[in-house]
Amino acid sequence: MPAFDAAPIVTLDENAVREFCETTLLENDSPIPLVATSDANLVARLSALAGEVFFEEIRRIRTEISNADVGIAAIDVPVIYEDVTKDAITGALVALSISQHIMPSVLDRENRTPFSMFNASEENNAALNELGIKNISPVDVLEFHSDGTIRGNTLAVPDHIALYNVFINYAKRGNFYWVPSTSIPSMHGYVSNLGCNNDYLFDLTPSVYSNSESGVKFISPHRARTSVFQEDEYGRVVTFMNGTFLGRESDTGGSATRRLAEFQQAIANNPFRYAVPQESRRMIILNNAAGFHARDVFEEPFKEASVTRCYLRSASLSGRVMGEILAN
Ligand SMILES: [Fe+2]
Repeated sequence: MPAFDAAPIVTLDENAVREFCETTLLENDSPIPLVATSDANLVARLSALAGEVFFEEIRRIRTEISNADVGIAAIDVPVIYEDVTKDAITGALVALSISQHIMPSVLDRENRTPFSMFNASEENNAALNELGIKNISPVDVLEFHSDGTIRGNTLAVPDHIALYNVFINYAKRGNFYWVPSTSIPSMHGYVSNLGCNNDYLFDLTPSVYSNSESGVKFISPHRARTSVFQEDEYGRVVTFMNGTFLGRESDTGGSATRRLAEFQQAIANNPFRYAVPQESRRMIILNNAAGFHARDVFEEPFKEASVTRCYLRSASLSGRVMGEILAN
């Protein structure tokens, strides 16, 4: 097991969170519903107020994520209300207000909110397995990768990703892992070997949404023609590595496939990684363009829980176009 260091964790001040909830998030003592954040004006207001109330915390988070040798920060939202539902909603809105201040995000294609919500249950994990969809259910092993976003027919690597666990109903929650690109000794060897050409194919991981009837609604996977690596204007390397790699378009299954698998293995064996324990009410913000993430599987679900995990994911609007989506 490689050595790992604790990722920086910022705990929000309980009084500041309470003040933010009371002045901003409650209407007649009830929280604003999460879907109301489909209103861009509301998001702008929440983000501006978060910037005032959590000024110091946001500065610290920005410093950590913009440092290429760190690139990750976790933010803990304290429990405020005894009413579990009220507390879950206000907690998620606090996290979202902070993430939207730091990284205005792509809108969810169905709800038009600046996040997508994912609910996992034992039933939809089984349904996903039946469909042969990997890497989405909480019990799948997740290899090191970077995240991508599809915009129209382009594929981009978003600069930042935010993940907020509303709750995790597993006894063994394990760690979330982060390997900054700057810490990978063999990085430049792989970049020069695979090059920055835009002629690699990936089958992207399909998007999956919860659906109250079947438990799972699934949007068909896309194939992308893309670069694996690109150098930005500062000489930093941005990597797209997500889904199933098919190799060069002119040589699918060829030597590039082995080379990328070796790269993935090199990241998993990297002498250094950051770890952050996966916990409810903890948001993780990543400098997605500057490293690779993975996580432990969740084990031992609480028997009484119908939903085993609920989380929000946001991807920044800012990002780097790496390739294009091919017609199905
Ligand atoms: Fe990811």
